[in-house]
Amino acid sequence: MEGRPVRESASELSEFALPIYANTLGNLLGGRIMHLVDLAAATAAMRHARCPVVTASVDHMTFLHPIRIGQLVIVKASVNRVFRTSMEVGAKVFVEDLETGVVRHTNSSYLTFVALSPDGKPREIPPVIPETETEKRRWHEAGERRRVERRPAEPVPYVEPEPHRCSLRCPSLAPVRPSRPPRSAPPLDPPPTAGSL
Ligand SMILES: CC(C)(COP(=O)(O)OP(=O)(O)OC[C@H]1O[C@@H](n2cnc3c(N)ncnc32)[C@H](O)[C@@H]1OP(=O)(O)O)[C@@H](O)C(=O)NCCC(=O)NCCS
Repeated sequence: MEGRPVRESASELSEFALPIYANTLGNLLGGRIMHLVDLAAATAAMRHARCPVVTASVDHMTFLHPIRIGQLVIVKASVNRVFRTSMEVGAKVFVEDLETGVVRHTNSSYLTFVALSPDGKPREIPPVIPETETEKRRWHEAGERRRVERRPAEPVPYVEPEPHRCSLRCPSLAPVRPSRPPRSAPPLDPPPTAGSL
């Protein structure tokens, strides 16, 4: 399968941070940023594989700075590495203040996409060719991330928890006393009769 250079599938998406996506503090919702990251990364993945792809996983995402409503959000994504039927795509989010021209990096994330054949089964993807030093570094780091991710988990020994030593009288932690049997209800007064009034 012939490889394709990273630059051929790299994608860029820009969108105004609109008030409909604001949180209560007047900043862009984190969920909206995640949506844009998924879209930009899926574009790069599909452009590389030239077939439908699905998001298999999203790495952790850090939010370095808030994005104010009215600022321009820019997401840049490119294929870091192809494994067999899956590929890692790196996405970087920037915010541009259109009045000052200042651009700031706000988020980064790694996503894994799987290419699908017409019958919905994972299919092989052409390799990606890293050309620049940055692309080569990302290619190596993607391999390392996968190696660490797939490493069998080390068994964690079970440690008996220490008995609770809280000296505060916390009602929620107080030992539960066995409840007393319910007292039998006092007999009800007999309904008044004409003779008793
Ligand atoms: C992702 C999906 C296609 C994998 O299907 P599967 O039958 O488990 O496929 P396989 O076990 O053969 O794995 C196929 C590839 O996916 C990778 N993969 C599977 N699950 C993964 C996960 N959770 N994270 C990262 N990679 C994953 C495998 O490593 C393998 O990659 P490789 O061939 O490059 O080594 C399937 O789980 C799926 O359709 N998930 C739902 C996707 C979705 O709806 N996304 C949101 C909307 S786009």
